[in-house]
Amino acid sequence: MAESGVRRGVLITGNWKMNLLRAASRELAASVVRALAARRSVAGGSGFAPPGAGVQVALAPPFTAIDVVRDAIRGSGVLLAAQDVAAAREGAHTGEVSAAMLADAGVELVIVGHSERRHGQGETDAIVLDKVQRVIEAGLLVTLCVGETGAERDAGRAEEVVARQVGAVVSRVDLRRASLQIAYEPVWAIGTGRTATPEDARRMHARIRATVAAAAGGEAAQALIIQYGGSVKPDNAAALLAQEDVDGLLVGGASLQAASFATVVPSW
Ligand code: PGA
Repeated sequence: MAESGVRRGVLITGNWKMNLLRAASRELAASVVRALAARRSVAGGSGFAPPGAGVQVALAPPFTAIDVVRDAIRGSGVLLAAQDVAAAREGAHTGEVSAAMLADAGVELVIVGHSERRHGQGETDAIVLDKVQRVIEAGLLVTLCVGETGAERDAGRAEEVVARQVGAVVSRVDLRRASLQIAYEPVWAIGTGRTATPEDARRMHARIRATVAAAAGGEAAQALIIQYGGSVKPDNAAALLAQEDVDGLLVGGASLQAASFATVVPSW
């Protein structure tokens, strides 16, 4: 988490991926809100703090359930997120969903560049940059996902690959005007049960912050929330969050059950 004196806050995002029909989505979102409220009353906290000053929680349902999740979390302080967005603004792009459409549907945060899109759908750094720019133009928060494959790590190229993915975006976007977070998700740790060690995460997060500082200045780098993602579970979340420079978590599998998801959210 942030060093004392640095006000970055913590962001915990649940990425439901291509799971859950509408009724199940509504139920899970409502259960998450109830579970967080129960933890809050146990912890004696005063509720969700504004961004940058406390713990924020976001839920990223599939597109088809965005409206029911929006209604289920209304008034709770939980942010409504989308898992992807079109690279184009509008027009003849069959099957795509634009950033303006997401904003219109009530979405507040968009995940861009997830490895399942980079590697499963052929998204390049250039496409990811276009998507980030569309989200910023629409006035929404954006979470940029980066991370190396197992083969890249084994070849000793993990830091170089991640620095390239980060640099491709932060060198082209004005971070003083954009609400951007970065999620470090080593591909070999996603959905595999293999988590990066807290030390692996700390080291890469520091490298990401240094890359951002070089491109956009120290102030932007210090303000940047960097999440870790990849097999985050209730039993490893606290150790990851305890690392300097780990400012949040992007949670896949463990976000599909309210109890496990609420458990990875730190008390506030
Ligand atoms: P996982 O997924 O927690 O199931 O590994 C994380 C992610 O892909 O965002």
